[in-house]
Amino acid sequence: MGHESPAGDLRLANLTKRFGVFTAVDDLSLTIPQGSFFALLGASGCGKTTTLRMIAGLEEPTSGQVLLGDRDIARLRPYKRPVNTVFQSYALFPHLNIFENVAFGLRRRGIRSVDDEVMRMLSLVQLDDYGNRRPAQLSGGQQQRVALARALINRPQVLLLDEPLGALDLKLRRQMQIELKRIQTEVGITFVHVTHDQEEAMTMADTVAVMNAGRIEQLGAPADIYEFPATAFVANFLGQSNLLAAEAAGTAGTEVPVTAHGARFSVPADRARTDRGAVYLGVRPEKLHLVGSADQVPDGHQHIEGVVTDASYVGVSTQYLVRTGWGSEISAFAANSGAGRQLPVGTRVVAHWHPRHAFLLPREPGQDDRTTPLLDEPVGAAS
Ligand SMILES: Nc1ncnc2c1ncn2[C@@H]1O[C@H](COP(=O)(O)OP(=O)(O)OP(=O)(O)O)[C@@H](O)[C@H]1O
Ligand SMILES: [Mg+2]
Repeated sequence: MGHESPAGDLRLANLTKRFGVFTAVDDLSLTIPQGSFFALLGASGCGKTTTLRMIAGLEEPTSGQVLLGDRDIARLRPYKRPVNTVFQSYALFPHLNIFENVAFGLRRRGIRSVDDEVMRMLSLVQLDDYGNRRPAQLSGGQQQRVALARALINRPQVLLLDEPLGALDLKLRRQMQIELKRIQTEVGITFVHVTHDQEEAMTMADTVAVMNAGRIEQLGAPADIYEFPATAFVANFLGQSNLLAAEAAGTAGTEVPVTAHGARFSVPADRARTDRGAVYLGVRPEKLHLVGSADQVPDGHQHIEGVVTDASYVGVSTQYLVRTGWGSEISAFAANSGAGRQLPVGTRVVAHWHPRHAFLLPREPGQDDRTTPLLDEPVGAAS
């Protein structure tokens, strides 16, 4: 087919989709650089598929633009767009063998000699010897790779992936994540990958956009978002965070002093999303260290005292819950490096952290402390 012009960046400009009075995608604007691996991450129902469908041309935007380079493709019919989609249900043709499944896009365009290209694609997804099999004779992961080859053979400028690994078990999922990343690097085209699995988004993508209720809450490199979330939603959707309800009264020098539950803390000014009024003082559980007494707290660290109420051994780490003096619980992860000992429930501890690992977020007045529950279990229930 030859999409001769270079693709350019994929841009969504004020893209909106309403179903009746319900807004599924709300004034979305973002740029996805050409050749990048972009992940759209969000909970069920936040508008991910609707966004992909508008890029693919399967859903008409209520308003806004879809641009590829300088070209507005929002009015192009789906098959005219240099875009292909891989869905969760790969929908291979069951009556065709793998070779013909992959060849499908070329045959449809009337291309006769498909052998070289099909073999190249099968090789790309490491299924060189599977051409004669039927889809039913392949594993889920292998079928997923066929679906990928079938899309890539059309040489799209953008590949959309909607939860493509959702049907696979965890181990296969991890393998396919690495595989997909390798393939993306090899073909060099833009991948837009939709998932509700934060680990999947972080391992694979150059850029992650965290979506909530039809809007992007934050967009950036995985490590940047993780280390300095922009909102309480992001802080707890991407990993876990301890968010202490606090009050701030402006920046003092390079610090923002805050008061939380009667105690004073501070956060570097460049780690504060806001410096006044109701705030959350955030610290990730793995940045909290537990020691036996306040005199073991290193210089420059800040601390909270409490009592261990739950200790969950999860192999690589032990995840502790610590009840603070004011009654809420914070979580702390200790790597099982062999250096420390396990702390039994009931141990008095001091949890400390370095201020550069803390962050400040805006908080709605009246909102209390927030900690993500561990392992989805009711905690402290055993006592
Ligand atoms: N055709 C439709 N008519 C009415 N509402 C719709 C339609 N399609 C989607 N929606 C609604 O729009 C919202 C976003 O749906 P969408 O499928 O984009 O979510 P999603 O982020 O892909 O979720 P999931 O992770 O569950 O796939 C949902 O609340 C959904 O019910
Ligand atoms: Mg979806």
